Amino acid sequence: MALRPILIAPDPVLKQVSLPVTAVTDETRRLMDDMLETMYAAPGIGLAAIQIGEAKRIIVIDVGKDKPGADESDDEDKKKEKDPDPMYFVNPEIVWASDEKVMCEEGCLSVPDLYEEVERPTRVRVRFVDYHGKQREIDCEGMLAVCIQHEMDHLEGVLFIDHLSRLKREMMLKKLQKARKRETV
Ligand code: NI
Repeated sequence: MALRPILIAPDPVLKQVSLPVTAVTDETRRLMDDMLETMYAAPGIGLAAIQIGEAKRIIVIDVGKDKPGADESDDEDKKKEKDPDPMYFVNPEIVWASDEKVMCEEGCLSVPDLYEEVERPTRVRVRFVDYHGKQREIDCEGMLAVCIQHEMDHLEGVLFIDHLSRLKREMMLKKLQKARKRETV
């Protein structure tokens, strides 16, 4: 596995539409392993292949899963602790989305340290090919639903800041530029 540099907005590569993967091969799995390692190191909870410069319809996500017995614990901090739960999505498609929507604060490894609320369907059903090349379908809600919709936007060259007003988006891009200038000085 290897860590890969993450592209930062407004890098034009992030605007590219990613291409479908024709078959899940060992090479695809190596890319998914690299993506997961890069995401964990960042740290983040989701990453699309285009964010490391690969225009392929591949996403990795880990929103964690509850530890066994967490419900019975009296310790509030213990309840919030999660076990790792890496998920891999190749060629994901949303086959159903709820009419009900939810506002959720989002961030992005390609838009570092900036957060803003975005409205999206509360629940979605996603069809995809998994790590082993098997076609699957899952229902997503909560954090996973938000995360997968955010990552699937990346496959179309869309960032979460593209859901905001032009004024807000330009303000965020300016902040990113300023932060980068500070880093290079
Ligand atoms: Ni993102």
